[in-house]
Amino acid sequence: AESFMQVEKKVILAEPRSFCAGVRRAIAIIELALERHGPPVYVRKEIVHNHYVVGLLRRRGARFVDSEDEVPEGAICVFSAHGVSPQVRENAKSRQLDVIDATCPLVSKVHQEAKRYAVQGRTLLLVGHADHEEVEGTYGHAPRQTVIVETVEDAERLDLKPDTPVAYLTQTTLSVDETRDIIGVLQRRFTDLLGPGTDDICYASQNRQDAIKAIVPRSDLVLVVGSRNSSNSIRMVEVARRHGVAAHLVPDVTAFDPAWLAEVSTVGVSAGASAPEILVDQLLEELAAHGYTDVELESVAQENVVFAPPARLTATSAGDG
Ligand code: F3S
Repeated sequence: AESFMQVEKKVILAEPRSFCAGVRRAIAIIELALERHGPPVYVRKEIVHNHYVVGLLRRRGARFVDSEDEVPEGAICVFSAHGVSPQVRENAKSRQLDVIDATCPLVSKVHQEAKRYAVQGRTLLLVGHADHEEVEGTYGHAPRQTVIVETVEDAERLDLKPDTPVAYLTQTTLSVDETRDIIGVLQRRFTDLLGPGTDDICYASQNRQDAIKAIVPRSDLVLVVGSRNSSNSIRMVEVARRHGVAAHLVPDVTAFDPAWLAEVSTVGVSAGASAPEILVDQLLEELAAHGYTDVELESVAQENVVFAPPARLTATSAGDG
């Protein structure tokens, strides 16, 4: 009888997923700046690592540039959610740009830690991916004192005496498990090591990885909506794979491959912190078209974090003075 039995097709939707508070704030900042000042509003780098979001804002008048050098003198320049180095800030100032800072407050917090440790004369061990914008920005706070540590092997190979005064910082969107392993090596190797309580991984990255771990045991396939340059989305795919489940990053529904569904009964779905919910809806529609109409929610946390945009964008004109 089994041979002609229908496989039960099902989707488990992970929660929390999609936008975090830092991404919501960054997008709101550009929307408010466009409302207040009219286009164009220049934005240094992608405001958040999502092509759909960037495309939408571009059509509304945001102009994305690679460097503050490309912004005309005196014009508005928004710094992206990933943060910038003090050198970029200086350069923007000397070019008299009207800077609106969309750096996520949780990234700014890491910058403050970096400055504090640097003043204490410590060598900074920055756990993160060297090619990521956030790491560039944090590194820039103490470039002569900072060493980037990407892997457990890097941590093992650091050419520093065991009693060197060191401090570690981490990128906010790392893999929780991998970061714990790297910090474990640092704690074993150094006698004068300072750091945040555990790491600087943000609540949103932590929650999204926890939710992936919750859906993985019941999923035959995990799909994570997110752009290919989104660090936290890539980590979510890695978490699923590390737990032995096939997983793919899906930048948008056109990247979906029906061949992935062969012999798949349950599909786990989530989205990175920079991916809008509309892209998740489109993926769910596509899955429904393949018979996966039954959607169950698996929630591991409620998120109530809200970061307000800068006052200059929200103040009423009467209060502007
Ligand atoms: Fe901030 Fe974390 Fe989002 S650092 S931008 S809350 S992914």
